[in-house]
Amino acid sequence: MTHPSLYHYADKADVLAACERYWNPHKTRFWQQAGVPLVIGEREDYILRDMDGHALIDVHLNGGTYNLGHRNPELVATLVDALQRLDIGNHHFPAPGRAALAERLLETAPGMSRVAYGTSGSEAIDLAIKSARFATGRRIVVSIVKAYHGHTGLAVAAGDARFSRMFLSDRPDEFIQVPLNDIESMARVLRSHDVAAVIMETIPATYGFPMPVPGYLPEVKRLCEETGALYIADEVQTGLMRTGRLWAIEKHGFSPDILVTSKGLGGGIYPIGALLMTARVGAWLERDGFAHMSTFAGSELGCAVALKVLEITRRDSTRENIARNIRAFEQGLAEIRQRHGDWLKGIRQDGLIIGLEFADAEGAKPVMRELYQRGVWAIFSTLDPSVLQFKPGLLLGAGQVADILARTEDAIAASKPAGAGCAR
Ligand SMILES: Cc1ncc(COP(=O)(O)O)c(C=O)c1O
Repeated sequence: MTHPSLYHYADKADVLAACERYWNPHKTRFWQQAGVPLVIGEREDYILRDMDGHALIDVHLNGGTYNLGHRNPELVATLVDALQRLDIGNHHFPAPGRAALAERLLETAPGMSRVAYGTSGSEAIDLAIKSARFATGRRIVVSIVKAYHGHTGLAVAAGDARFSRMFLSDRPDEFIQVPLNDIESMARVLRSHDVAAVIMETIPATYGFPMPVPGYLPEVKRLCEETGALYIADEVQTGLMRTGRLWAIEKHGFSPDILVTSKGLGGGIYPIGALLMTARVGAWLERDGFAHMSTFAGSELGCAVALKVLEITRRDSTRENIARNIRAFEQGLAEIRQRHGDWLKGIRQDGLIIGLEFADAEGAKPVMRELYQRGVWAIFSTLDPSVLQFKPGLLLGAGQVADILARTEDAIAASKPAGAGCAR
């Protein structure tokens, strides 16, 4: 259902026609043709309901935006309460919410001493790169082949050319890419260029969660220190307890120079992004605090929601639930793989960040379609569609986990091509 008091469209067909006509024709058509004719209507907990009523368990969560579920009641109450007294505030002035959220974020990351805000992951990434350039006086940024850091100017240039070239926004003279887990290439580039920063998704999400091999990320950080470059940890998808740790980078035993968070930080109800910086990187905030401005960044409403997100996310009960769900998915998926290993050829898992790898270059697409029909929404990886992104919610109950696993096995069995495992 659309909300009758908000919109004038009669039904789903009417919405689709209007989206095709006025909004984004290609995207609107793409999903119809991909077998996912979804227009999200009602949403609650981890359940989405298509306007036609088809219910879906959300295992996409927009990359962690809905870690705590859709319209989490505690977050909604926080926002509604804040709206009785606040609005977004004025970005030129100090505000208690901005200070309190910064204080809380800094408690989570030893070595960090400043926080700056954005309205989104991309904006926070742009500011991370700007801050690194300020701190080093260098311009070059190194990232990973098939990286994804968003779509604003610097963020898009750091990512895959798929998104930058069309807009003439790639900057090959300033942004260099090296393959993940190839430490020799990384060392060569860092030693032969004046690099401001290496930017790494702790686990590359849009590339289908290939895991950094043990020791790789710490060695990248060591090379950064050797060559005077800074290390930016993009935790927009991997942060906020998705791996069972607040920040995925914690597992790797070092502190980055900049850590970027967004998506789940706004609880799916208020957009916000943030970057945590060491004193050196944040020095521009001492010198010229007006050097970067954004009207909506660090809005007082967003800060109120984000504080609550952090509180819920770090609760003992949440941690215990996450640990239990990690074990359940590990075990359940391993069993499914035993039965369908010719099709589900790999499971990439770090906590509740999971990529299901199929034995076909586009294999995640039919699985996505079959899952959709069975009431589960999970998306293929844009930059490697052999992998299905599988991102279960942090607060899922045991019954919901079992339900997701059962439907997933059904969908995998149904999507299996005849002669799966053979090159197609
Ligand atoms: C790892 C990563 N970094 C940055 C971004 C950009 O965030 P946003 O879409 O909020 O601009 C994304 C978005 O998916 C992401 O996955």
